[in-house]
Amino acid sequence: MNEIRGALERKLKDRSAIMAVLGMGYVGLPLAVVFAEAGFEVLGIDPDTRKIDALTAGESYIGDVTSEQVAGLVKPKKLRPTADFAELAKADLVSICVPTPLRKTGDPDLSFIVSATEKLAEHLHTGMIIVLESTSYPGTTRELVLQLLTEKSGLTVGEDFFLAFSPERVDPGRTDWTTLNMPKVIGGVTPACSELAALWYGQALQAVVPVSSAEVAEMAKLLENTFRMVNIGLVNEMALMCNRLGINVWEVIEAAATKPFGFMKFTPGPGLGGHCIPIDPLYLSWKLKSLNYTARFIELASEINTNMPRYVVTRVVEALNNHAKPLNGSRVLVLGAAYKPDIDDLRESPALDVIGLLREKKAKVSYHDPQITHIDHEDWAMDSVPDYLKAAKEADVVVIVTNHAAYDYAALLKGSQLIVDTRNAYGKNMDPKVVRL
Ligand SMILES: NC(=O)c1ccc[n+]([C@@H]2O[C@H](COP(=O)([O-])OP(=O)(O)OC[C@H]3O[C@@H](n4cnc5c(N)ncnc54)[C@H](O)[C@@H]3O)[C@@H](O)[C@H]2O)c1
Repeated sequence: MNEIRGALERKLKDRSAIMAVLGMGYVGLPLAVVFAEAGFEVLGIDPDTRKIDALTAGESYIGDVTSEQVAGLVKPKKLRPTADFAELAKADLVSICVPTPLRKTGDPDLSFIVSATEKLAEHLHTGMIIVLESTSYPGTTRELVLQLLTEKSGLTVGEDFFLAFSPERVDPGRTDWTTLNMPKVIGGVTPACSELAALWYGQALQAVVPVSSAEVAEMAKLLENTFRMVNIGLVNEMALMCNRLGINVWEVIEAAATKPFGFMKFTPGPGLGGHCIPIDPLYLSWKLKSLNYTARFIELASEINTNMPRYVVTRVVEALNNHAKPLNGSRVLVLGAAYKPDIDDLRESPALDVIGLLREKKAKVSYHDPQITHIDHEDWAMDSVPDYLKAAKEADVVVIVTNHAAYDYAALLKGSQLIVDTRNAYGKNMDPKVVRL
């Protein structure tokens, strides 16, 4: 074993290694907290000074982390939020948790990984372990990150420093599977990289799953998210087909789900949302296109899922038509803006498309979300109505886009004229006022 590796192993085991997390968002902040709580000194680095100021003041802006946790770690300097990248020079361990969105063209936007890695490269030193957590296409860690790190340094990966990929799998808002107990897949660009990264993560996380390469770890994440995307696409198409056939898709799904094996329940909805499922598989299909291969399942599921907000609007048009009303000029209340229940995350939410399409068709649209009080989106902005029950009484139709638990569905039903329920919030209640997806 080389000396560098031996020294690192000792520092990991006695927790004297200093860790830095690049990106204090949904993924980075919980990771930084878990390691700080496990006894590591953690630098939380982010160029967004509002985030750094909030953390410095002991405030959390992420649902899965409490302000008490942040304050309890920031005060004794176990977690040190900073916008100063020069602090990276002190770090032995660096996790990169920066965004990987799509460009307007639908191509991967790797600019955040590139800028974070370039900053890290300025401070790369022997004895550093780096783990990329941002979801990307297979090859990103080796072809992009490694190349940027070694361009100027002259250091050798697997000997002088160590590099691995470990996908983040958290499901924001979930309490049974968290950053702490979610099995963590890790694959290094060399066997030594895998071993050291696994040793590091195993100091704080409950289950580490080493794999043979960074590419396997990258692809595992994309398999997981493609699996969800394709199954959601399938069940959304089931909803379209059931509608044509005059069958209740929700009842069909419940019946199929009684099979004790070989079936996994997915539910239809107004479209995909969040930072992962609508985006990550497109990183894979983009990479495959460069190899002259079309990822057919991904393209098909993406097409079906992307059209769901438009389908919701056609169902609203039909529902109003049955009440002899045109959508043009009708008052439509959209309930729920977050991409899934009981969180405040608006990213890629289908509510944005549903509201935009309703506005395009000249409906008088308002919305309510208990956690999202204002939306500023492309060419429109709106405040959440303060009282959804009052607004529902005044609306020609209510469209449930996100079935938040906080809603009083019985009172809503009582006070509304018509409800388009895209999430089956009313379950077995077959009230004729409720139109299901
Ligand atoms: N949110 C999730 O549920 C989730 C789940 C699994 C995987 N992921 C993946 O994890 C990655 C991060 O996602 P997120 O949800 O935490 O994003 P986020 O937008 O919440 O946080 C990313 C943070 O990185 C910061 N940042 C931008 N450029 C930076 C730079 N050069 N250096 C340091 N920080 C920088 C941003 O200011 C932001 O605070 C993405 O690749 C995403 O696909 C997210």
